[in-house]
Amino acid sequence: MPFSNLNNIQIAYDDQGSGSAVVLIHGFPFNRSLWNEQIDALSESHRVITPDLRGFGESESSSGTATMTMMAEDIARLMDVLEIENATLGGLSMGGYVVLAFYKQFRARVRGLVLADTRPQADTEEAKEGRTQQAERALAEGMATIADAMLPKLLTPETVAKRPSVVKRIRDMMMSTKPEGAAAALLGMAAREDQTQLLSTIDVPTLIMVGRDDAITPVQDSQKMHERITGSRLVILENAGHVSNVERAETFNEELRSFLDLVVS
Ligand code: MLT
Repeated sequence: MPFSNLNNIQIAYDDQGSGSAVVLIHGFPFNRSLWNEQIDALSESHRVITPDLRGFGESESSSGTATMTMMAEDIARLMDVLEIENATLGGLSMGGYVVLAFYKQFRARVRGLVLADTRPQADTEEAKEGRTQQAERALAEGMATIADAMLPKLLTPETVAKRPSVVKRIRDMMMSTKPEGAAAALLGMAAREDQTQLLSTIDVPTLIMVGRDDAITPVQDSQKMHERITGSRLVILENAGHVSNVERAETFNEELRSFLDLVVS
């Protein structure tokens, strides 16, 4: 697994396959292994880049607040290092916040967008306060409190009851996250800009996907993005919650593949 020193932070990433480039950005508090099924499905025909965002997985943490803008800049620097002029950028949840921040800053480097289980709006004041408390708790108590609180909101009750390996994988991913990385990203999410106005300026092919039972970024958020992004395609994945790319990997991958064919053609 390669590392790159970007903006003074060591960023870990995988770079697999060849063809047109797709950069997939994980959500909170996960790491690049969130995309294992997508790498398997796409890397025969595409170059798939999966970074660990700063503070996650094997990437270094920065102190203080890790903003979505900083993370977007890390992705742009990584693309420079990998000599990728432009790519399709996809993100799940916080990864989607980073993708929108990237589009805002580096529009010319985006060929297409995949917005999965995410939303454009900023946090409410109440949510911001909750993030600050969560950041303090992560630093004081470690990741277990966050993992236990998030788990039932990430997966459908059916997955929780019947797919123990998925539950274990998602929980293990959260537990392996460094508390200081999670805290910095929580403060960064609290500080993120509202990107609702940006949506009507998006003029690249855009695929929006969301789990029907997503309890964190509900279907209505995706419907609003779909209404505002001209020509976008909205796919609602049945029997899926917030991590729809894992819970319904097959359907997610089929949609992603057809979309990428369209972007490249
Ligand atoms: C995520 O999955 O990235 C987070 O749940 C997003 C959020 O907390 O807003």
